[in-house]
Amino acid sequence: MKIFRRLALMAVASSVLVAAGCAREEKKADERIVLGFSQIGAESEWRTANTESIKAAAATSNIDLRFADAQQKQENQIKALRSFIAQKVDVIAFSPVVATGWDTVLMEARDAGIPVILTDRAVTSDPSLYAGFLGSDFVEEGRKAGRWVSEKFASATQDVNIVELQGTVGSAPANDRKKGFEEIIAANPLLKIIRSQTGDFTRTKGKEAMEAILKSESRKIHVLYAHNDDMAIGAIQAIEEAGLEPGKDILIVSIDAVKGAFEAMIAGKLNATIECNPLLGPQLMTSVTEVVSGRPIAKRIVVKETMFTMETAKQHIQTRKY
Ligand code: AHR
Repeated sequence: MKIFRRLALMAVASSVLVAAGCAREEKKADERIVLGFSQIGAESEWRTANTESIKAAAATSNIDLRFADAQQKQENQIKALRSFIAQKVDVIAFSPVVATGWDTVLMEARDAGIPVILTDRAVTSDPSLYAGFLGSDFVEEGRKAGRWVSEKFASATQDVNIVELQGTVGSAPANDRKKGFEEIIAANPLLKIIRSQTGDFTRTKGKEAMEAILKSESRKIHVLYAHNDDMAIGAIQAIEEAGLEPGKDILIVSIDAVKGAFEAMIAGKLNATIECNPLLGPQLMTSVTEVVSGRPIAKRIVVKETMFTMETAKQHIQTRKY
């Protein structure tokens, strides 16, 4: 029964592709789905958890995963996508390092009849060039961080100086987390971003950026807003080395809610973290199966998330999965 249903769905899928002028071969019911996945790299704890989730979910879904690590370079991702097209994989999925510059390769995938699913980060290309996008609402994450800062300083009577450590320049999370945060703090003119620098989502660069800011900034820094936990953890080291107490002299809010952030909160060095869920593997494999079966998937699948503060970190750390 199952086999007949799958065959029928395959037939529908292949007729859709033929109608679209594509030359994809029909997949046999007992063949494993081949998924080409281009990952950004291994720049953060979040990314490692995301990679593990995708690999584990592919294995349990019996999907043949071809995994490529782009080492945070767009050119490597484009090469990987072209290689997946040449290999005639069934579906391509990728987490785009930056938001722009994908039109040509997405059109190549479309012309080859290979559906593309975006995970984690968005692109600026026309949505008709991909089947769907599964990931967090980064603008909302930025708003949550902004609300936390606004509430902390609701009774401030003088300027609140904020340092922002941005993620990878041109990436969707860096653009959106900045936008959401600024949108909220705009309601209180005392909340001012006095310095904003990229730390490329890594601990090393987060530390370097914070060191440089602490050396050159003469004004008191009240708040550090980091676009991810890894940069916050790097910055915490820089703050301590400068003889200040992170979490007290400078309040810190960041994004991801990885284990390292919980440890920093329990140690009193990080005040709050906004959750960004990397466990996208199971939902991605469901979407891959749907797409191969010819069923449309939602253009936008948003992951539900929350936030955590140092006051409640201890009670949550045991249940965290990443
Ligand atoms: O795209 C998600 C972001 O990328 C995570 O916040 C960050 O840690 C990662 O590197």
